[in-house]
Amino acid sequence: MTILGIETSCDETAISLIEHLEGRVRILGDALVSQTALHRPYGGVHPFMAKRAHQENLPRIYREALGRHREEDIDRIAVTQGPGLSPCLWQGIEFAKDIQRRTGAPIVPTNHVEGHILLPLLQEDGQILPDAFPALALVVSGGHTELVLAERIGRYRILGETADDAAGECLDKTARLLGLDYPGGPAIAEKAGEWASRGGIPANPPISLPRPMMNRSSYEFSFSGLKTAVLYDWQSRPESVRQSPDYVREMAFEIQRAVVDVLVAKTARGAESFPVRSVIIGGGVSANTELRARLRKALPSLRILAAPPSRSTDNGLMPALTAVLRPDPMLRPGESSSLAAAPSLRIE
Ligand code: KG4
Ligand code: ZN
Repeated sequence: MTILGIETSCDETAISLIEHLEGRVRILGDALVSQTALHRPYGGVHPFMAKRAHQENLPRIYREALGRHREEDIDRIAVTQGPGLSPCLWQGIEFAKDIQRRTGAPIVPTNHVEGHILLPLLQEDGQILPDAFPALALVVSGGHTELVLAERIGRYRILGETADDAAGECLDKTARLLGLDYPGGPAIAEKAGEWASRGGIPANPPISLPRPMMNRSSYEFSFSGLKTAVLYDWQSRPESVRQSPDYVREMAFEIQRAVVDVLVAKTARGAESFPVRSVIIGGGVSANTELRARLRKALPSLRILAAPPSRSTDNGLMPALTAVLRPDPMLRPGESSSLAAAPSLRIE
């Protein structure tokens, strides 16, 4: 069985071709263009520029993912239906429908958040981890911050999510304030690492940031207060301090620590309150080394499952693998005309 996965929900145009045979997944093709350079001047994703870039990139990415394989070899077309940016999702969906018109292969519409949760089950040797569930999943990206109780594949309960900004969005926005590049997560991680390894002269008074909602018993998150606290601190410092590399490094370190503290505290509490076998982390922010290390330390007896950092951000394997593990609904030609983007699709 050969499955094509198309992902265009945000600012990555990605297509993967996989083979699923006797329980094992083999990656036949994996192509991706990231639009980060395009969105850098805006400090975030510009939906209509993203849509246009998807439109331009899809044919080339598709050819690259197919490689020496032929379009007729595709048995199933997986495409991210949502959640995501509507104009972007539509590009992928229309592209999937075009392939279906030519090949007759069924389309499996997939959920982007579920893709982030399922991808960490794929092991390096292509086997799918059989006994991960029940699991607690933390999905943290530029668009999502959700703690999900995954009883089994296809059965999810959202324990809590962010009331305002997503964790990655907070990193992106605060990085922009500090004059760092988009995407902000890796830029902040780099500066935080410099502060941790080299030290420096702390600001006077030293930077101190809140941990919003950390000690509440709920699993809800909120990151807009953290962003505001960063802004207030920045405004309170003289220009000479704001411009100094030490201030930027100290601030990056404190921002990363505040975000990681909150994510680890809530995830650890969830993992201790529900009878789970593993903790799954997915989404761009889950690439963060500090988050991974702190979670392992907080939950030493639980298995922490994460995709390799290069696959934590959006990619075509997410829809392709989802269509392997949960191949419904499967829309045959004639059934897919009403398939539409679902920008606010939920996994519950
Ligand atoms: O999953 P993703 O590619 O797209 C969405 O579905 O939103 O996640 C992108 C987010 C961005 O906010 C980016 O700053 C963040 O993931 N990110 C990171 C790291 N790499 C990407 N955040 C912290 N540490 C990283 N290493
Ligand atoms: Zn994502």
